[in-house]
Amino acid sequence: MTKYIVEGGNPLFGEVHISGAKNAAVAIIPAALMVDGVCRIENIPQISDVSLLLSILQDLGASIRTVNRSTVEIDCTGIRNGQVPYDSARRCRASYYMIGALLGRFAKADVALPGGCDFGGTRPIDQHLKGFKALGAEVSVQGGFINAGAANGRLNGASIFFDKVSVGATINIMLAAALSDGLTVMENVAKEPHIVDVANFLNSMGANVKGAGTDVIKIRGVERLHGGTYSIIPDQIEAGTYMAAVAACGGQVKICNIIPKHMDCITAKLLEMGVEVDEIDDSLLVRRIGPLTKANVKTMPYPGFPTDMQPQLAAALCMAHGTSIITDSVWSSRFRYVDEFKRMGAQIQVNDNLAIIEGVEHLTGAQIQACDLRAGAAMIIAALAAYGTSEITGVHYIERGYESVVEKFRRLGGNITSVEIEDSDAILTAG
Ligand code: UD1
Repeated sequence: MTKYIVEGGNPLFGEVHISGAKNAAVAIIPAALMVDGVCRIENIPQISDVSLLLSILQDLGASIRTVNRSTVEIDCTGIRNGQVPYDSARRCRASYYMIGALLGRFAKADVALPGGCDFGGTRPIDQHLKGFKALGAEVSVQGGFINAGAANGRLNGASIFFDKVSVGATINIMLAAALSDGLTVMENVAKEPHIVDVANFLNSMGANVKGAGTDVIKIRGVERLHGGTYSIIPDQIEAGTYMAAVAACGGQVKICNIIPKHMDCITAKLLEMGVEVDEIDDSLLVRRIGPLTKANVKTMPYPGFPTDMQPQLAAALCMAHGTSIITDSVWSSRFRYVDEFKRMGAQIQVNDNLAIIEGVEHLTGAQIQACDLRAGAAMIIAALAAYGTSEITGVHYIERGYESVVEKFRRLGGNITSVEIEDSDAILTAG
């Protein structure tokens, strides 16, 4: 087990290079399963969710070659349609994309129900199942597994109007529909940058997907997908996390290798809080010298403020002048991190899907535990900004989605170290 020791109080200075987008990579790797040939995927982040999905593909017979740190070649030519077991699926939310990918390729899927971050409530997949059924699959949930299959061995295009804007359902149905017969029209879909990235990936392998990034996506099914090369977009949330860290700690950091347009919803909020943000080509220069001011934030599907940035922004708002209100309209109980912040002296009250934050002069270091991926990132930010020493446990959550997070913060002057601990120590710390 690993924990992070953080000595807070240093402003951050320098440049940080943003890795490939986690939420695009975790969909594109399963999508590679549908390709007849070699997919060369570049700008893949080195995170544990990626390793897990690659190992699931390997277990199904894919051949995987690591070309360099951020490039892999995946050959699924000889892949077989096997079961995705509970032990793999429970470790990563995105394992649900194996259903859409297997359905696309074999018109049949047998995948254990997904795990992933616990946001303090249920994470339904009814919209995914509704979409698969509309494409003609019979779907059942038995013994913790989703069994889906088309009776005649082919899925048929269909019109689907989603009841809820869902990233996962949009991508999953896009995968299944890409190799089905005829036209699929999906309405009320998610528009996140990684939705567009997955569509671009599929199109570069021979699919016919139009409209990704708008409310309506049209997919004309094709017979087969061919191999090719694709480079994943930069990670909007990783970039936003370093921006929030500069807001919390002060200093000046160039956030490099990003698509500034994807950052608009986050940039706008930071400007409101008194942070300076300048766009320079494919980077943003983020600077905070003066005090932080309060802000109200409501999370929304893209292009609104992302729920996946809510805990990191909350870390900065803990030290802003005045009272801030955060409303999470995507995940109604995503405030499990609040008790940990309170241990550091934060003043936060949670009321349903609202967090009311009364800014304090400073936070103080404490022993804290990451309870999910983005909450863990928020705890790093709070600890880097706090006076004194913090110990963060549960860091395996953070390493699911942040590449080299300790090294990247250290290069910016953050005093953070990763240390190995005995399992029994971790349990004691976790309580
Ligand atoms: C993805 C992201 C996650 C992010 C979330 C919202 C991945 C691997 N994870 O999760 O980090 O927080 O998008 O941006 O990309 N819903 C339903 N029925 C469904 C599906 C969703 O009611 O079938 C609801 C959910 O309860 C939630 C909302 O829709 O309130 C959005 O969920 P969704 O966009 O599907 O999130 P995920 O794809 O699970």
